[in-house]
Amino acid sequence: MTFPDTTAPDAPTTPRLADSPDWLYLLREFDSLYRFGSDGGSSVIRSHRKRVRDGLSATIAANPPITPREATTLPVTAHFARALDLGERAAMQGMARALREVRSWLTWEYGYEQMPKPLMRKYAFCEILGQKGPILSDRLNLGFVLFAPNTTYPQHSHHEIEESYISVAGAWSENNGAVYAPGSLIYNGSGVEHRITTGDRDPCLLAYAWVGPAQRLAAPDMKLTPPRRSKSG
Ligand SMILES: [Fe+2]
Repeated sequence: MTFPDTTAPDAPTTPRLADSPDWLYLLREFDSLYRFGSDGGSSVIRSHRKRVRDGLSATIAANPPITPREATTLPVTAHFARALDLGERAAMQGMARALREVRSWLTWEYGYEQMPKPLMRKYAFCEILGQKGPILSDRLNLGFVLFAPNTTYPQHSHHEIEESYISVAGAWSENNGAVYAPGSLIYNGSGVEHRITTGDRDPCLLAYAWVGPAQRLAAPDMKLTPPRRSKSG
């Protein structure tokens, strides 16, 4: 194996993906899940999985620079160590371990301009691949969402963006339809309304992938769907 000569006068100062094994192996975990996991017999999910793989392959082939972002925490990241611990014990241990290696470099943020107050302590996401970096890509977003125990993530949808979650740790439900365990893949097509609830004992960590037009990924215009009825709940 050869390594780049960083002492050469013209050596690049910005590390690239191929020189950043922790980020590269994290992408390999995503690639394995979207390459070798099952589509459950759904042609819609099969084609989504291929679009994620194609975006990943194009990014890895382009060997983009790793753009540093400021590492940040939010209240919910107090649950992150527990989520990683749970992830390392179950079906998604490879992803959890790879994520642990980059934990000091993650930028945790909120996805909405107007965040419901109760959600501010219970939710955050971090992007690892996308137009803001740290791994640059304009056709795909990859990242993680972290929820505290006993959280309700209100109903919302994504215009022109298709989304999938792969459960890494914890138990959760979407639209009251099922309880998802580590390893489950959940697909939300463009415009599909969804609402998430998490179990009351442990945090929940999901890996996500977004595919869509570059201009929409740059400005996803995330809005929570207003309740249709005046009564709350
Ligand atoms: Fe969503």
